[in-house]
Amino acid sequence: MPSATVPSSLIHLFLLILGTALARDPFACDPRDAATAGLSFCRTSLSIQERVKDLLERLTMEEKVRLLVNNAAAVPRLGIKGYEWWSEALHGVSNTGPGVKFGGDFPGATSFPQVITTAASFNATLWEAIGRVVSDEARAMYNGGAGGLTYWSPNVNIFRDPRWGRGQETPGEDPMVAGVYAASYVRGLQGNKGDRLKVAACCKHFTAYDLDNWNGVDRFHFNAKVTKQDIEDTFDVPFKMCVMDGNVASVMCSYNQVNGIPTCADPNLLKRTVRGQWGLNGYIVSDCDSVGVYYDTQHYTSTPEEAAADAIKAGLDLDCGPFLAVHTQDAVNKGLLSEAEVSGALSNTLAVQMRLGMYDGEPSAQVYGNLGPRDVCTPAHQELALEAARQGIVLLKNQNPPLPLSHLRHRTVAVIGPNSNVTDTMIGNYAGVPCRYTTPLQGIGSYARTIYQPGCANVACSDNQLFGGAINAAHQADATVLIMGLDQSIEAEFKDRNGLLLPGRQQDLISQVAMASKGPTILVLMSGGPLDVSFAKNDPRISAIIWAGYPGQAGGAAIADVLYGTTNPEGKLPMTWYPQAYVSNLPMTEMSMRPSSIKGYPGRTYRFYKGPTVYPFGHGLSYTNFVTAIASAPTVVKVPIDGCHHSSNCTFSNKAIKVNHAKCKKLSLGLQVNVKNVGSKDGTHTLLVFSEPPAGPWAPHKQLVAFEKVHVPVGAQQRVGVSIHVCKFLSIADVAGVRRIPLGEHNLRIGDVMHTVSLQATAHG
Ligand SMILES: *[C@@H]1O[C@H](CO)[C@@H](O)[C@H](O)[C@H]1NC(C)=O
Ligand SMILES: *[C@@H]1O[C@H](CO)[C@@H](O)[C@H](O)[C@H]1NC(C)=O
Ligand SMILES: *[C@@H]1O[C@H](CO)[C@@H](O)[C@H](O)[C@H]1NC(C)=O
Repeated sequence: MPSATVPSSLIHLFLLILGTALARDPFACDPRDAATAGLSFCRTSLSIQERVKDLLERLTMEEKVRLLVNNAAAVPRLGIKGYEWWSEALHGVSNTGPGVKFGGDFPGATSFPQVITTAASFNATLWEAIGRVVSDEARAMYNGGAGGLTYWSPNVNIFRDPRWGRGQETPGEDPMVAGVYAASYVRGLQGNKGDRLKVAACCKHFTAYDLDNWNGVDRFHFNAKVTKQDIEDTFDVPFKMCVMDGNVASVMCSYNQVNGIPTCADPNLLKRTVRGQWGLNGYIVSDCDSVGVYYDTQHYTSTPEEAAADAIKAGLDLDCGPFLAVHTQDAVNKGLLSEAEVSGALSNTLAVQMRLGMYDGEPSAQVYGNLGPRDVCTPAHQELALEAARQGIVLLKNQNPPLPLSHLRHRTVAVIGPNSNVTDTMIGNYAGVPCRYTTPLQGIGSYARTIYQPGCANVACSDNQLFGGAINAAHQADATVLIMGLDQSIEAEFKDRNGLLLPGRQQDLISQVAMASKGPTILVLMSGGPLDVSFAKNDPRISAIIWAGYPGQAGGAAIADVLYGTTNPEGKLPMTWYPQAYVSNLPMTEMSMRPSSIKGYPGRTYRFYKGPTVYPFGHGLSYTNFVTAIASAPTVVKVPIDGCHHSSNCTFSNKAIKVNHAKCKKLSLGLQVNVKNVGSKDGTHTLLVFSEPPAGPWAPHKQLVAFEKVHVPVGAQQRVGVSIHVCKFLSIADVAGVRRIPLGEHNLRIGDVMHTVSLQATAHG
């Protein structure tokens, strides 16, 4: 036995050194610290509830208040280290928050496309897969001391106004898509180990937060006036799905007020809705300095102690910012708040830390303890970033198809425009340091010889000095690809747009280049928000238009794959592309979703706005053609009423049934749809199923009720099953914000196909 020759204590020491060289020191309950490792809150055999209770009983009031903030203080006498709660992972581990530091063993992390691009894939499997990769990398970075375990992502606010600078971060304008995105991404991040968390995700910013800085109004001062109806069927939908379907471990309240009350001080929103009705199992955190903002900027309370007390009483558990650490003790001293209320807040944050394994001793001994530097930027992870960009790119126009290009006929390509060879533009905001980049110029360069001309010095494109070179290049090449659009200098956090047109002289450049091009001209747009490119849509010399969003670290490769047909585009717009005239008379501050003919108010998003569009929600072409047909679908769906035993109170003459009165469990409408590929290329079709409810004062004119993707080879047909949750998706909110299922004829639309189904109430479930 060789080990007999080496003292076992030496082997132990060696293993210890090896272990600590790879992993960070334990956050708490270090097995080497005899004084604390045996305390009850460290005992993994006890329930989390018991451990939290034990820890709270040991903490002094002074220690407690220092744990109410993102930069939580250490409690050395209990062997607990300091913790930075603020990390971000919107579309890859990001260093936007102080919890993540790149460098050393972790020079970068996989940088997926910006969320608006990923949303365009309409692929929930992809969204969850991205979450899984991001949390692998996040855990690896935590284990190596380079990241946190609490990630304040995703951003699931509704992209209500096309000018919003942060629309890029969101899954778009549809509440159901945003909700499915939220639940899928959160599941990917948090893992599937029951109550145990891989990392803790956070759905933000609750609620009606979708204005940053427009026409002198900023988010710190804005009071969003919203109706109960819009709250119920628009603003709250993604948050509710995030909590109830995604089991998210955190929700963040926003900066703005909703109907006169700062969201972080509103017990109706936090305590009653998020924790009470939806049953959040986790913590509620403020946006960074929200509490300070409503005291200092909004003057919502007259003293800072009242501001602190209001937040905690409303249900806030953690303050991003120092405010609660500074003022909570005084609030308790003044009798505005009890120590029990402070402990209540901490019980929610501590429970999440315990579910993350932070009180279980050595990180290396835990479920995810083996993840390390070799699990970051792996070839498979980077391939998924490329795949996400391929699935999200949207083909908006393709005339007498010039696309896909042929590497035989289009050997020389003029690559023109300020976004042609960009790197960080492709990853948008809330990004990290990517593993590497493939720019569009590099991507196209792998298919053809390129002649590169920026055309404008940057996206602001304030003059035409570089136009000449661009025109010459287009004149020589077999095809011209213009890569134009926006970047963070035009749309960003703190920065909403003034209009929807391309900035500066971009439009001029595109038109002049198109006129000079020897071969076909293709316009590729990078942007988070929609653009009014009517001029290009209507210009026959511009044969094709592609929207790439902000396509991530591998965006240039994906764009080239679409241009050359290696990838058949399958993305669909997750937001309406309005004409410029839409916003010219529309204050961003007007929150109403529904149109008003009296006020001349157009309404917002495809669900309510019926006017002209440049490209509608859901638009996106393919290189092949699909034909869809309904194979089977019910014409009648019975909605069973709950508690309807006395015929006296069960009148079915009502036009609608309250969702609360229906037996919703398992009440779904099943469709079978045939999708046939009648074109000449294999492709993936995205089925969008819209419903038009019976007319009523409550109804949107149509809304998305289901989406499914299916891959169909040339000439083949695939059967797709679609299941529509009746109570969730065929219900509508009345003016009081009460959900009702309208009885009568609902029209379902799948592309050009329409099917009518009649919803009828029945006493017998
Ligand atoms: C959805 O995305 C996943 C992950 O990339 C992929 O495997 C799957 O094929 C996609 N679904 C369809 C129908 O394309
Ligand atoms: C394109 O960008 C890459 C990455 O920043 C850079 O290395 C390369 O020199 C650029 N190419 C041209 C032609 O400017
Ligand atoms: C119907 O009436 C009975 C008796 O008045 C009552 O107990 C029950 O809750 C009512 N059901 C509904 C759905 O209102």
